[in-house]
Amino acid sequence: MADVPRDLLQEIKRLEDLFTVDKAKLKKITDHFVSELAKGLSKEGGSIPMNPTWCMSFPTGFETGRFLALDMGGTNLRVCEITLTDEKSEFEILQSKYRMPEELKSGDADELWEYVADCVQQFIETHKLTDEMDTLHLGFTFSYPATQNYINHGILQRWTKGFDIKGVEGEDVVPMFEAAIAKRGVPIHLTALVNDTTGTLIASAYTDTRMKIGCIFGTGCNAAYMEDCGSIPKLAHMNLPPETPMAINCEWGAFDNEGKILPKTPYDVIVDQDSPRPGQQAFEKMIAGLYLGEIFRLVLVDLHDNKNVHIFEGQNIDKLRKAYTLDSSFLSMIEEDPWENLSETKDLFQTKLLLSATHPELELIRRLAELIGTRAARLASCGVAAICKKKGYETCHVGADGSVFNKYPHFKQRGADALREILDWPEKKNPKDEDPIEILAAEDGSGVGAALIAALTLERVKAGNGAGVMAPETFKK
Ligand code: BGC
Repeated sequence: MADVPRDLLQEIKRLEDLFTVDKAKLKKITDHFVSELAKGLSKEGGSIPMNPTWCMSFPTGFETGRFLALDMGGTNLRVCEITLTDEKSEFEILQSKYRMPEELKSGDADELWEYVADCVQQFIETHKLTDEMDTLHLGFTFSYPATQNYINHGILQRWTKGFDIKGVEGEDVVPMFEAAIAKRGVPIHLTALVNDTTGTLIASAYTDTRMKIGCIFGTGCNAAYMEDCGSIPKLAHMNLPPETPMAINCEWGAFDNEGKILPKTPYDVIVDQDSPRPGQQAFEKMIAGLYLGEIFRLVLVDLHDNKNVHIFEGQNIDKLRKAYTLDSSFLSMIEEDPWENLSETKDLFQTKLLLSATHPELELIRRLAELIGTRAARLASCGVAAICKKKGYETCHVGADGSVFNKYPHFKQRGADALREILDWPEKKNPKDEDPIEILAAEDGSGVGAALIAALTLERVKAGNGAGVMAPETFKK
């Protein structure tokens, strides 16, 4: 950084102070996280919803049958037919993806359900699925916080990930979906409404019995794990046997909504204030893919507008001023630029933002991307460590999915380093040695995970255990 002028150097230092979360802070956050997890399970509740999901067992690997899976994530809509075969932990998948039109995300409920039902109908007709099966059992991955008194029901607590569709919050999404499907005469039975994290947990455990936690680090961020019913005071009235497992969708994106512990920067405050749901998803807004590019953009605009700092001087930054113009893949590309002179980053700024960046400016840009990406990975590890501490897991596997986990450079390594710091593991003797707790790429949670949860529910109902299932008598096959 020899050629970086003093004003930019000072700013780099300031940004490092703002965005670095040291070991001591990680530990403090984790400890607070552990108590907040327990609070969410208590009768009084806390800011982390800790939603019981009524998914009440891990798969054995011997589940069989054909299922439909629908995934309404943040960016795409995916419909799959999943066949769980007789071979242990084997499945076949047929799938189609549909883009979620941007305007739908702030439209109204009817438009949403009509669109979703159209995609499902199109899939079923294209693949002639109704000729093969009477009723199609569906696992619907609905990746938003939902209160589930039953597995085949879910009241949307609030939209997250920038969604703002009117008339859905506070409502059960299942009847809305079913009404749109019924209009089309498609013979579907919604068997399980599933969060993507629960799907990830179950899909991962299908092929690896050491998997204890399912995480998503994508557009949003969240985790699910198996709790014992005896440790869920808010379900005490159900009188479930204390050792019975219950998957909990933590909805940990809401961790520290009350602003007690997370080291928020002024840029995080703006991201929150300008979002459709200020005060919500505090943890998610510092980690998830939807927000990383926006934090980065806000810092650069702030620096440009600061008279004492000279960055993009005399240039028109209109493009950079547009909110959410940069997504996390933009940061990924900066972090991946292999050249000493950061020529790829220079081209990126030129083509995407019509800005010409000097070499010192590029140095600052690269450091900023690293800081934001590193902070995200380190904070994410606090959540994983907290669940492990709560459950007393000293060794286990954690299944993770999502664009940030799979594509953001160094996210995995940075997360693993942070876990080591939080949990005080000694240095590895051999770089190939496994860590006691490993965060690994998961199986497809919203496809095979949702199908497995539908299969487990069906089996449970057949065996006469309809706990947490609405109208089990309507379950046909
Ligand atoms: C949602 C969660 C979801 C996560 C990852 C969050 O915004 O609230 O339900 O699991 O995103 O998709």
